[in-house]
Amino acid sequence: MRTKLQSVATAAQDHLIILSDRLNWEWASEFFNDADIDFLKKAADDRSNFISTVKDGRLVIVEFLPNRPKANLSTLKEMVRRDAAKRVTTLREARVGTVTIINRAADNFTYQYAEGLVLANYQFLKFFANTSKRDKTSLHTVSVLEASLSAAELDKLNIIIDSVCTARDWVNEPLSHFNAEIMSNSFASFMQNSPVKVDILHKSEIEALKMGGLLGVNKGSANPPTFTIAEYKPANAKNSQPIVLVGKGLTYDTGGYSIKPTPDSMDHMKCDMAGAAVVMATIKAAADNNLPLHIVALVPATDNMIDATAIVPGDILTISDGTTVEVLNTDAEGRLALADALHYAKRFNPALVIDFATLTGAAARAVGQVGCVMFSNADRQVTNDILNSGYEVYERAAEFLLWDEYLEMTKSEIADLRNTAGPLAGAHTAAKFLEFFTNYPWMHFDIAATAFFAKEDGYWVKGGTGWGVRFLYHFLENYK
Ligand code: BES
Ligand code: MG
Ligand code: ZN
Repeated sequence: MRTKLQSVATAAQDHLIILSDRLNWEWASEFFNDADIDFLKKAADDRSNFISTVKDGRLVIVEFLPNRPKANLSTLKEMVRRDAAKRVTTLREARVGTVTIINRAADNFTYQYAEGLVLANYQFLKFFANTSKRDKTSLHTVSVLEASLSAAELDKLNIIIDSVCTARDWVNEPLSHFNAEIMSNSFASFMQNSPVKVDILHKSEIEALKMGGLLGVNKGSANPPTFTIAEYKPANAKNSQPIVLVGKGLTYDTGGYSIKPTPDSMDHMKCDMAGAAVVMATIKAAADNNLPLHIVALVPATDNMIDATAIVPGDILTISDGTTVEVLNTDAEGRLALADALHYAKRFNPALVIDFATLTGAAARAVGQVGCVMFSNADRQVTNDILNSGYEVYERAAEFLLWDEYLEMTKSEIADLRNTAGPLAGAHTAAKFLEFFTNYPWMHFDIAATAFFAKEDGYWVKGGTGWGVRFLYHFLENYK
């Protein structure tokens, strides 16, 4: 069950969360008599962040916003999201079904509070035989007082959060229930009531396009590959050339014959389509929120398996642009499938192409799980804009550089390129390999570390995170 956000004109008889400054109790007489206020003030002395009390059968949570005058605004917003995430436990324990958020603080962080609360309340229950028994939450609706956050802003947030949660669902789906065909159909059904056109290319069309990278990775699979093209082209689009999004859609990555060495390096590999989830979830949010932008999303999809027909190290594949690639490691499969997609993107004459891929362990090792790695050959302004979007929603990216030496490292002795380049700078050589197939301004996000969490962290629940949807949306919304 998805937690719904709704706008309300009054707080009526609901349970309440009141966002307040520690020093400001002026609002309190609206809800409490003097004796209650004295009680709350005492409670505030004892507790550092919040007070929860029951009044007339209503749970009242008074949430003190972080008092960190030196923190910058984006850090403060993140603290609010995280505070909200902590309160999910309080609401679950009290078996609260709906709660109303009211802002009474000088700075208005209602948006971030609602965002943190709903994202933290996400659960993936699809595969339990008895869903209601495993449902940890009673909280199914979060109301927000209209005076605290406009209904329009809340609608927008609802759409973004729905996309994040759908991306999480997709990542959480195991291969047994989510091969390339099923995933593509799931993208199409998600777009059904949106102004996004979806076209799914099947194996014969992929063959006709000579997508030797995608087909090569697919060779060991029992499931045919797909190539999904989603397009949102509103009449009022302000960009004459589209923004093309590309997402790695590996529904499972065993590594192939270069098999992943340990169980713990393979057991999360259903998340290898997280890039695909990000771009498809985001184009839907952009369309439903009527962003005046022409956007295309492309997803090459397959699993990476072992079979008598699978590629082996030493094989040579020909990408759809004619480039030959020596496959030295079948586990470096993402770049092979993405090469075809990046070449396909050229036909749109794009203003900008942005790809999302769980591409390298090297990216994960470099920055850990607190952000992702990005590369850009687009101009400085647009690069800074997207980095800033990352800070704004706290899905941050660290920029790495596309030095030419990294391309030299991916040259092969017997083909144009090779798909691995030795132990050093693994995220860089992968990025440089991808850049080879571009002829347009391009940005690459390696989300290997942030796509899937082994344990929960604030509003980042365990499992698929949907990481990237919020910052990509924010970037598109502010795109000039
Ligand atoms: N899907 C993996 C990368 C990955 C690692 C995603 C950890 C999520 C979490 C990718 O296909 C891969 O296997 N990359 C190899 C490349 C290497 C063989 C050059 C890697 O990073 O080890
Ligand atoms: Mg791999
Ligand atoms: Zn992979």
